[in-house]
Amino acid sequence: MAVRGRLTSAVDAALDRSVVLGYGRVGPALRSRWWPADPPPASLAGKRVLVTGATSGIGAAAVEGLLELGAAVHLLGRNAEKVERCVQSTRQRFPGSEIVGEVCDVGDLDAVRSWTAGALERIGRLDGLLHNAGTMTEAREESPQGHEIGLAVHVLGPHLLTAGLREPLAASGAASVVWMSSGGMYGARLHADDADDIEFRHGEYDGVQAYARTKRMQVELAAVWADALAVDGVSVTSMHPGWSGTPGVLEHLPRFERLTRPLLRTAADAADTAVWLIATRPPSRPPHFWHDRAQRPTTFGWQRSGDDAAVERLVTYVEAVTGARL
Ligand SMILES: NC(=O)c1ccc[n+]([C@@H]2O[C@H](COP(=O)([O-])OP(=O)(O)OC[C@H]3O[C@@H](n4cnc5c(N)ncnc54)[C@H](OP(=O)(O)O)[C@@H]3O)[C@@H](O)[C@H]2O)c1
Repeated sequence: MAVRGRLTSAVDAALDRSVVLGYGRVGPALRSRWWPADPPPASLAGKRVLVTGATSGIGAAAVEGLLELGAAVHLLGRNAEKVERCVQSTRQRFPGSEIVGEVCDVGDLDAVRSWTAGALERIGRLDGLLHNAGTMTEAREESPQGHEIGLAVHVLGPHLLTAGLREPLAASGAASVVWMSSGGMYGARLHADDADDIEFRHGEYDGVQAYARTKRMQVELAAVWADALAVDGVSVTSMHPGWSGTPGVLEHLPRFERLTRPLLRTAADAADTAVWLIATRPPSRPPHFWHDRAQRPTTFGWQRSGDDAAVERLVTYVEAVTGARL
């Protein structure tokens, strides 16, 4: 058994290091032979989960995974018509399930504030929150409050949403918050000084690099939230989904999608770990970063590990611009 455990760990780590195999369809195909058991059927019956970016790709797949386990699911998107379409078609596939449409642009801090205020009256208890909404732009774009769009959608909005939903999460007694980051975050670092242009205002804008850096921020911020919410019995983790040919990848990375198409995993496989984390709340060690049902390092061996001063600087900035303290 011990030899088998060492062997599967070695294969798992090799998949991770190879990137292409681990992130693509081969990753879950092999790992599912040894990864932790599926959540028991109906393990989310009586539980309520909110998924952002639920109208497409990985978010839509996560919604289905959560409904299959019996959860009541709130599908949050920014486009009212699209949300309504998704709610209707999901209801047809899951008759009898509680499916609630929510409209909010998570990159718009005012919209997040007013959506949360309304939701608090309707949602007394929240057992799961999946921060999945994601975007990537070629040129620098700003949110209604003037923040770089990736920073707003991946970091500031989810931070404000988590803070606003703290009470219903605590009321669950066993809630789980998951931040959907990206393997792209391995290519980005945070800095503790002015070299870290948090809003990407200086120099030539590189959309892929900005995306990767905000995905790194998600991982660092999630770990800080994990400490802050432990007192409420809320588990907070981040994860990366691997590579999946979703509408988002087709739109923003068409060349990547063309080159890797035969290797890409399904959206359900990309969403699997999020659903599993919410349903099983496995023990998690800092920095709480997961992929394919296992904790993963947040840096590869040759990279420098995290910089506490850089994280502190990020948290100070996020708290200042959102007005929400951890
Ligand atoms: N697919 C991959 O290989 C991959 C790899 C690494 C990480 N990820 C991460 O996985 C998550 C899901 O990505 P995906 O590939 O499924 O992309 P997708 O198909 O583009 O889905 C993204 C979802 O986020 C929503 N969204 C975007 N901006 C929003 C905003 N301001 N407010 C509310 N919702 C917003 C989109 O809504 P609309 O439909 O209205 O645009 C859509 O429902 C993202 O966080 C992404 O960074 C994906």
